Amino acid sequence: MKRSLYTGRDFRRTRNIEELRLVAKRWLPNFVFEYVDSGAEDEATLRANRDIFDAWRLVPSALVDVTQRDTSATLLGRKAAFPFVIAPTGYNGMQRRDADISLARAAAQSGIPFTLSTVSNCTIEDVVAGGQARTWMQLYMLRERAVTRNLLDRARDAGCDTLVLTVDAVYYGNREWDRRSYVREMQLNLRNKLDVLAHPRWVANVLIPNGVPAFANIARYLPEGERRASNGAVYIAKQMETALDWDSVRWVREQWQGKLVIKGILNVDDAREAIRVGADGIVVTNHGGRQLDSTVTSLEVLPEIADACRNRLTILIDGGFRRGTDIVKALCLGADAVMLGRATLYGVAAGGFEGAAHALTILASEVDRTLGHLGCPSVSALSAKYLRPAPYGRLGESSPRADAYGTPTYRQRAATHASE
Ligand SMILES: Cc1cc2nc3c(=O)[nH]c(=O)nc-3n(C[C@H](O)[C@H](O)[C@H](O)COP(=O)(O)O)c2cc1C
Repeated sequence: MKRSLYTGRDFRRTRNIEELRLVAKRWLPNFVFEYVDSGAEDEATLRANRDIFDAWRLVPSALVDVTQRDTSATLLGRKAAFPFVIAPTGYNGMQRRDADISLARAAAQSGIPFTLSTVSNCTIEDVVAGGQARTWMQLYMLRERAVTRNLLDRARDAGCDTLVLTVDAVYYGNREWDRRSYVREMQLNLRNKLDVLAHPRWVANVLIPNGVPAFANIARYLPEGERRASNGAVYIAKQMETALDWDSVRWVREQWQGKLVIKGILNVDDAREAIRVGADGIVVTNHGGRQLDSTVTSLEVLPEIADACRNRLTILIDGGFRRGTDIVKALCLGADAVMLGRATLYGVAAGGFEGAAHALTILASEVDRTLGHLGCPSVSALSAKYLRPAPYGRLGESSPRADAYGTPTYRQRAATHASE
């Protein structure tokens, strides 16, 4: 019999994040799935974000009592049950109705923080009240400082303790696979219109009764009567602060009394500057391969950044995390925690709150099991001693995945790093 991953629509029967992704794909019309799943241009970064994990192998310690395992982590001054956080993702309402609140509830249930995007479909006030999670607010810096300041005030008043300032999306990425679904801005091509009709349950859940979900968080800054999603998209595109620089970060630092995390760091000099401007943390990220294509992966640059900045600021990382072993590898290389982007989005698309909770349960149990297998009693005890670079590069072989993507050089790079 031919082996295959789960081919049904019931998220409860999925065993891993890839199977959840396939259930999400069946639930969503093609244009929404492409919006979530695709990357920029040739998707070289998107592929590399997954491939890079093969560059490292885990080295278990035998005969360690791991009856009790501690998966918790202290993140920006507060305890989390697991070393992960839900990443900010915009336009979640296209996956399921009120997906922002569902994700926040799932995060709360798992004892981890949830990050709400500036371009969310639920307001920060509703998410904090409805989700009951430790909620972090993500900020896209807008040209109108008064609006930016109002967003910060609202986040503070709602009870957010952490602001995540995204600095790698000043210009929107060239997501060709996403754009291919449209004939022009916000207007689907015929193929995709017909495909929407083939997804009546999604239409009933997402589009009825209010049409395409509006960007609720920023809708109040638009004139009355012009608060539809299309107006919101135009507003954000016009308002995005292209002059964003370290002075802007200093300005945000002055406005925001809570914890400040800079998201979009890929080099060690920027990480050092983040410390100098008073940031409490950074997210090492290439925005899930959705911005500049052909960038380094975050896992590649993590060791260098961790060497320079460990214990001086909190190091978060994201990009391609789909397995507990992926998360454990990043922690071994110096990350304090991982942000989950698509992994939980697939969950919420596949099954709303329960689907998102299912995604988190999968990853939590994989991390816990990996600790047990490694002979490592706690997340805080993870270190480079549990990792070795995979030998492919050195031995001149390549893995099946490297063959498929034609990118065995990551293994060579990892091998070089380890021998330095
Ligand atoms: C559909 C989608 C929307 C996103 N929207 C935002 C956003 O509004 N703000 C932001 O800082 N990052 C955004 N991101 C990037 C994520 O926060 C995160 O960096 C990325 O998804 C991590 O990669 P992964 O999806 O492979 O886990 C988005 C990512 C996706 C997939």
